[in-house]
Amino acid sequence: MQLIDGKAISDQIKVEIAREVEQIKKNGGKIPHLAAILVGNDGPSETYVAHKVKDCEEVGFVSTLLRFDASISEETLINEIKKVNANSDIDGLIVQLPVPKHISEAKIIETIDPAKDVDGFHPINMGRMLIGLPSYISATPAGIVELIRRYKIQTSGKNCVVIGRSNIVGKPISNLLAQKSDFGNATVTMCHSRTKNIEEICRNADIIIAALGKPEFITASMVKDGAVVIDVGITRIKSEKTKSGFKLVGDVKFDEVAPKCSFITPVPGGVGPMTRVSLLQNTLLSAKKIIYQ
Ligand code: GUN
Repeated sequence: MQLIDGKAISDQIKVEIAREVEQIKKNGGKIPHLAAILVGNDGPSETYVAHKVKDCEEVGFVSTLLRFDASISEETLINEIKKVNANSDIDGLIVQLPVPKHISEAKIIETIDPAKDVDGFHPINMGRMLIGLPSYISATPAGIVELIRRYKIQTSGKNCVVIGRSNIVGKPISNLLAQKSDFGNATVTMCHSRTKNIEEICRNADIIIAALGKPEFITASMVKDGAVVIDVGITRIKSEKTKSGFKLVGDVKFDEVAPKCSFITPVPGGVGPMTRVSLLQNTLLSAKKIIYQ
C-alpha cells in the first residue's frame, strides 16, 4: 500500500509556482493577482478565504480580499464583481460560497468573467471542460487529477467509481476520468444517494473516488484488493482522543481499507492540500493567459 501524500505534493507544487513567480519578477512580467470576495461572517468561509490569502502570500502572488456585509444587495454585489472583471490588474476572482440566501449563487457565478473564473464554476468553464476544450477546472477535481498524474496511477481502461454528483466534485471528476487524456480513458460509474447496490459497484472498482460527505462510508468489504482509493470527504466529528475534542475524518474507514489498497489518500493530508494549491495553479494559468488569450 502506498500513501498518496497530498501535503508533500502540494508543497512541491508551491515551490514550483514560487520559482515561476520569481522568474516572472526578474523578467519584469505581471505578478499573478487573485481577488477573493467574502460576503458576511460565515465561520468556515472566513477560514477558507484566510487560507487562500495566505497561500497567495507564500508563493509571491498579489491578493485582494474584498469583504461585504451580509446585507449587501444582489445588485450591488453583481456591480462589485463587474468592477473586478474590468480591472486588468486582477487575474483571478473567486466569490466564496455560500452567499447569503437573498443572493442567487447562480447569478453571481455567471457574472464572473469566465477568463477570471479560477474556481472553474462558471457554466462556460464547466461546458468547455465537458467537451474537452481548455478551461479552468475546479480545485478539487484538478487536485485529484494532479495526484493521479504525479503518482503515475494508471486510469486507462480501469473501472472507476465516483460516489457523489456535486457540480464541483462528482460531475467534473467523472467527466475528466472518462475523457481521452493521459489521466482519463477510464470506464466511469457515477453513484449517488439513489444508487442501488452501491457496495457491489464499489467492489468491482479499480479506482474509487469517495465524495459523498458521509464519514467512514467506505468500508473494507466494499473495496477490492489492490484498488486505488481517493477520499474527498472531510467531516469534523467529536473525539475524546484529541485536545480540541474534534477530529477530521474522510468518507473512507481508513484503518481497515488502507491495507487492501495499492494507493490511498489520507484525511487530512490527501486531497485537501491539493484543492488549495489548484487555485494557485489556475491563477497562474490566468496571469499567463494560457486558457483564454
Ligand atoms: N465554498 C466551499 N468551497 C469553495 C470553493 O472551492 N470555492 C468557493 N468560491 N467557495 C467555496
